[in-house]
Amino acid sequence: MTDKVLVIGSGGREHALCWKLSQSPAVEEVYCAPGSDGIALVATCVNASTLEQILSVVREASIDLVVVGPEQPLVAGWADGLRSEGVEVFGPGADGARLEGDKAYAKEFMSAAAIPTAEAVCFDRSEAALAHVRAHPGPCVVKATGLAAGKGVILCANLAEAEAAIRTCMEEAAFGEAGQQILVEEMLEGPELSVFAVLDGERIAYFAPSRDHKRIGEGDTGPNTGGMGAFTPVRDADDALMTKVVAEILEPSVTELRRRGIDYRGLLYVGLMLTAEGPKVLEFNCRFGDPETQVVLPAYRGDLYGLLKSAARGHLEVEGALDRRGAAVGLVLASAGYPGSSQKGVPIEGIDAKGDHALVFHAGTRRGSTGDPEWRTDGGRVLCAVAWGETIGEARRVALSQAEQLKFEGAQLRRDIAAQEES
Ligand code: AMP
Ligand code: GLY
Repeated sequence: MTDKVLVIGSGGREHALCWKLSQSPAVEEVYCAPGSDGIALVATCVNASTLEQILSVVREASIDLVVVGPEQPLVAGWADGLRSEGVEVFGPGADGARLEGDKAYAKEFMSAAAIPTAEAVCFDRSEAALAHVRAHPGPCVVKATGLAAGKGVILCANLAEAEAAIRTCMEEAAFGEAGQQILVEEMLEGPELSVFAVLDGERIAYFAPSRDHKRIGEGDTGPNTGGMGAFTPVRDADDALMTKVVAEILEPSVTELRRRGIDYRGLLYVGLMLTAEGPKVLEFNCRFGDPETQVVLPAYRGDLYGLLKSAARGHLEVEGALDRRGAAVGLVLASAGYPGSSQKGVPIEGIDAKGDHALVFHAGTRRGSTGDPEWRTDGGRVLCAVAWGETIGEARRVALSQAEQLKFEGAQLRRDIAAQEES
């Protein structure tokens, strides 16, 4: 117990990272910048929100490893800034993070490496994009190529929707600069899968695959959200499928990264669609997924700190499939109105009543001011109730009973998450 680790971020994913890192035998203290009142239950939160402030925390607290949670600091080159000061970091430099920050670059990367993905055409001008969809009417997906906080993907069922999506991105600039260039992509069909690979620049280890539920409503209806819940393992992602994912997607990705001179030490999150023609990449992300991390880490048997530290050093201590114990299910409680605008400051009951094999990760909560220790909502996604067990069915039952004890006015909860895995 001698090492100190600093996690950057403040959401449910970072709460899960801090919780798991704090269990490592090598870790003396976990810090989180900026963290949150919920994360303060498992880590020391520090008020640092710029690279310079992070560097001073690293020096003052003698931090041994920095783990970057969200994509924005990675795309902005914080990992490079920290490494140039001799700090060990789990998270790619700006060159690797471009796989998430620039979807046109990611497409070109996949094409160069012959990685299966949806066909796509890139446009900088709305007239050309409009002419393209008119010449190819039918379902398509319009994507802002830049970072748009998970909102820049519009699924279009027909030509009218595609035209409207192009105008929203390029003429109305709904996603700002991020949507000034777009991809018009073939609509793929099939179940989705999230694969989290740990890279050390050369070698690959991967967690048990998980599945996120993006739509707000039960039965996968209504608008897309940041994710309403997740589970692991996934029945249709068996060893044979994972062997294919490694051979057709992960290994070619690492080869291509190396060919481009990119020393990627961090998490490569591959968002897949399991199509009739095999797994195809929907997107690359350069960080852990949210809310998948909240189930993948409780179901991971190993030492997270040792794993991430060895990747940051360029010498992964394990390769291939990482050890999993049983199954885990996570159910998000979201505020009324989410994914639209949602009210903050609504009192929450039941957070402290936790059962065995269950956890509550905080995504958007805060405690009241002095004299008011009550938990209150502070965002769209508020909490994630996670449970694990031998089987998905067991984990799901406990997660549901846990989620039902967490009460706040207008709470939205999907009760169907992982239900299909039980049958
Ligand atoms: P992305 O941020 O690119 O993963 O897109 C967000 C979500 O949009 C994905 O998780 C899918 O549900 C959906 N999506 C993205 N690309 C496609 C595609 N080519 N076909 C069908 N759905 C897609
Ligand atoms: N679970 C979706 C994401 O983290 O992007």
